[in-house]
Amino acid sequence: MTTTGTNLPLPQQRDFGKTNRTDRWWLKPLLVFLGFGAFVVYSTWAAFQGTNYFYGGGGADYLSPFYSPLLFGIAEAHPLISVVPEGGRPDWWPVWMPFSAAFFILWAPGGFRFTCYYYRGAYYKSFWLDPVNCAVGEPRKGYRGEQKLPLILQNIHRYFLYVALIFIVILLWDAMKGFWFKDADGVGHFGIGLGSIVMLCNAIFLGAYTCGCHSLRHLVGGRQDCGTCPGPSGKAYSCVSGLNGKHMMWAWISLFWVGFTDFYIRMCAAGIWSDPRLF
Ligand code: FES
Repeated sequence: MTTTGTNLPLPQQRDFGKTNRTDRWWLKPLLVFLGFGAFVVYSTWAAFQGTNYFYGGGGADYLSPFYSPLLFGIAEAHPLISVVPEGGRPDWWPVWMPFSAAFFILWAPGGFRFTCYYYRGAYYKSFWLDPVNCAVGEPRKGYRGEQKLPLILQNIHRYFLYVALIFIVILLWDAMKGFWFKDADGVGHFGIGLGSIVMLCNAIFLGAYTCGCHSLRHLVGGRQDCGTCPGPSGKAYSCVSGLNGKHMMWAWISLFWVGFTDFYIRMCAAGIWSDPRLF
């Protein structure tokens, strides 16, 4: 019997929140709600700012990952200018509409995370309470799964993956630029600021999260979902499995760090923090 597109009755009906569990089953969904909710609020606020996303006062270019690649705006540091003019509103943008260069960027990493297999399981529980945790009563009487609209659209995740992989390359490039400092005479040389390390960690953490993606494992494994198959595809599958086993951990580390990277650069650009030069 196929269950495709069928509304299934839940096997056990309980009132919402009712359970025989005696552990603190509510704690994990609560932490997810607070952590993910805080990130959504901060990233939305930062995206609407449209300023302080770039810092070049120390000589190297630090560009916030929320605004990279920068399609509109200015991100060229002058060695003697600590405040870089920003904005870049194109002529065709409606005057009544707020503008930020981040609007052109965040749909891609945001869509990638929103459709991630791990996050789906996490926010279905903590935000939609569907169910709030295993063996806990939920506020619905049936289960539709992801076979119908709108949740069937979650399958777009594999396409977001292709875009996310490009973003990792761009963020690595941004991190490398963070290690290239220009003197007052305009000559560039290798250096290390605290921001250089913050940006490099951001690219690494996001890379670890992206390279542990279930869709990537399926793709590089020759679409066979086989870790013991001989040949390069089996090896590639096993390799991604190494990161995939810690996918939740990398999801949270990279989420926190990408927000912190924006915050760090924002604080430096606003003149509230100074970027210590380590080398
Ligand atoms: S499954 Fe989480 S990023 Fe693809």
